[in-house]
Amino acid sequence: MDNLQKTISISAPGKLLLFGEHAVVYGYPCIVSSVSDRLTVTIYESEKSGVEIQTPGVSDQRFIHAAIQEFEKRFSLKIDHCMLSTSSEFSSSFGFGSSSAVTVATMKALSLFTRKNLSQKELIDACHASVLSVQGVGSGFDVASSLYGGTILYEFGGKRIELLLMNLPGYSFVVGYTGEKADTVSIVKEVAEKREKYTEKVDRIFQAIGDIVLQAKTALEDGDATRLGILLNYNQEYLRDLGVSSEKLEILISVSKKAGALGAKLSGAGRGDCMIALVSNEKKSAVEDAIEKSGGTVMRVFLGVDGAKIASTDNQEELFIVVDKNDEVIGYRSRADCHSDKTLIHRSLDVVIFNDNGEILLQKRSMTKDTRPGYWGVSVGGHVSKGETYEDAAKREMKEELGVVLPVTTAEKFLFEYPHETEIDVVFTANSNGPFTPNTDEIDEVKFFSKNELSRKLLDPTFKLTELSYECLKRIKFL
Ligand code: MEV
Repeated sequence: MDNLQKTISISAPGKLLLFGEHAVVYGYPCIVSSVSDRLTVTIYESEKSGVEIQTPGVSDQRFIHAAIQEFEKRFSLKIDHCMLSTSSEFSSSFGFGSSSAVTVATMKALSLFTRKNLSQKELIDACHASVLSVQGVGSGFDVASSLYGGTILYEFGGKRIELLLMNLPGYSFVVGYTGEKADTVSIVKEVAEKREKYTEKVDRIFQAIGDIVLQAKTALEDGDATRLGILLNYNQEYLRDLGVSSEKLEILISVSKKAGALGAKLSGAGRGDCMIALVSNEKKSAVEDAIEKSGGTVMRVFLGVDGAKIASTDNQEELFIVVDKNDEVIGYRSRADCHSDKTLIHRSLDVVIFNDNGEILLQKRSMTKDTRPGYWGVSVGGHVSKGETYEDAAKREMKEELGVVLPVTTAEKFLFEYPHETEIDVVFTANSNGPFTPNTDEIDEVKFFSKNELSRKLLDPTFKLTELSYECLKRIKFL
């Protein structure tokens, strides 16, 4: 093979099904979130012929071999003279879909290593085919989640993939592991047999679950936690009817609800593995205690993290300013800490640059950013580092990202919560028609958008705007 890159490292997250398991195998939608446990695949060029595989933390190499074979078959080439290694943050007791994460990370790494640079759709198709070649069944929701990240509405084979904005400040999902290992493939086959025998009944259950998923999408986007809780409970009733719950799951679900969860259900194929409960911040520790007291293990993960991406180029040691809700400084913590702990509120800024036609400049974040790679965002965005004011940081970021320093006007200031981080954001506006010299380490593309053009673009599910940019543009009344 010509044209090889020497090393490429891709990390991919695990996943957690929120709504719609089993029905998704039969063409109904599901809602799935990525989780903060990640698995990294690195491919190095090597002198030796063949592919040497070193996989500490991945007990089952079948998914790696299958991904390589599928890639070779689809693109009629032989992967040779390289070494592939993995490193995993997944817990050994419960993996949150390590087989899909390793499949996605391997496929994307191969795509970049060979400079094939496959599209997301090509990657989904190749990953789904690869997983099917190993286990014979599966809707592909897990590889889609690992590839796209965030929270998505998904239909079999990637027929529909819609990024959902999870708008639930003050609420989160608690995840409880039953300690019982469930075999997804045999449960899916068992459900298929049941459907053969009782087609009408089982199809009615799937139809009802499909309806619940669509209602849950609306509730999620409207931030209606109460409704979402009720829908979790409904979904669980149908899964119980389908015969895929278990005594232990039922116990953990019931104690969670008694301890104040708004709703709870099993997550995944059932018969064991995990349950999820939607809780308010006030009830979270009571629900966690109830799960632990009943013999479950609380899995501490964040939902809605980035999908598969090149291992970051951002400096994880950079010190951010940590503040309280009133923006009073309380200390300094690293970027890595601030990006994984919601209680560490840190200062950030955005600059929205207008041109003389009233259009705004958006930037497409590079695939190597540690948060929201490949998303579109406002003209300039960043964090306030130790020793800087918001305005100093705005000027530094403008220089670093676009090669310009413009006078800025403060437009807005607000607290913004992601599922796994919290920021106080100041939005500045500025005026310029360019030219700009975007920093290619951070930005893939910049472009001016009119109001109409952007509203149209937002209807296209492949156009992804960061949640924070969306909020900024709403606040300055551009959206
Ligand atoms: C298993 O985690 C979820 C199922 O819906 C199977 C699948 O969609 O591949 C039961």
